Amino acid sequence: MSVRADDTVRAYARAKINLYLHVLNRREDGYHELDSLFVFGDFADVIAVTPARSLSLEIQGPFAGKLGAQEDNSVLRAARLLADAVQIRPQTKITLTKNLPVAAGLGGGSADAAAVLRALAALWRISPSAVDLTLLGMGIGSDVPACLLSEPCYVGGIGEQIEPIPGLPAFPLLLVNPGIELATRSVFGTFGREFSEAARFSEVPSTISELVSLLQTRHNDLERPAIKKCSGIAEILHALNETEGCLLARLSGSGATCFGIYGNIVEAKQAAALLKKRGWWAEATMTAKAERPWEDL
Ligand code: C5P
Repeated sequence: MSVRADDTVRAYARAKINLYLHVLNRREDGYHELDSLFVFGDFADVIAVTPARSLSLEIQGPFAGKLGAQEDNSVLRAARLLADAVQIRPQTKITLTKNLPVAAGLGGGSADAAAVLRALAALWRISPSAVDLTLLGMGIGSDVPACLLSEPCYVGGIGEQIEPIPGLPAFPLLLVNPGIELATRSVFGTFGREFSEAARFSEVPSTISELVSLLQTRHNDLERPAIKKCSGIAEILHALNETEGCLLARLSGSGATCFGIYGNIVEAKQAAALLKKRGWWAEATMTAKAERPWEDL
């Protein structure tokens, strides 16, 4: 995160990727308890906040036109909730550069809301002890607490229990999306009652091949219901598995974005070029390392 001389604060809303996602239980309120391993890509939306007369949101970037009401609401709602919590008037212009596909299983509105909370906390000089951003974020979206951290972590509960995984190596990923939006709620709605056990690693893997072999015995429980809603996911998973150097292909979150893990970024980029030719959005990225310095635009 950076504060410029003109008082503009910028923060990344990094793509969130679920390396595995086990659904453990369904609560009485309809929410599902999860055990998931989240990592974040070095590919992100960008939030900029600057002092202004009133609260406003401008959206730009390649996916600006795709943004549904829910996504821009999550940004404005985050700003209003934070302002209310610390009892100030939110006199701020927010600019969101939407580089990530929307309703895509990459964190979307949650990542943007988390970035807005971080940026506004800096712009408004809110002391960390003045407000619990995790609690505030949970009221906006289940992925907000993890997105506030934006580092590798296990996520439990319905999204509020975060356990960072320091030392997880950074590795290359290819993200591929078919251009079809999938609402998280509707994918969970199609999920049956085939629950899984929690499956956290007993030790942090130190190489990509160790990580891949641990992931092979885990899965994403939302893959099957998501494929029922969008058959393009199965096509993408097949295509990813066919590319040279792909070590593992899986759906992220409720989809429809799939990811492939590669041994090096060159192979991931070559695969991206190949899959773009099929009309899909594809982006090769490194994961953001644990223990990196805080945002540094
Ligand atoms: O919190 P978020 O807006 O991301 O959730 C969207 C929908 O996904 C919820 O309304 C709920 O139906 C479903 N969901 C769930 N269990 C979770 C997270 C989300 O059932 N842990």
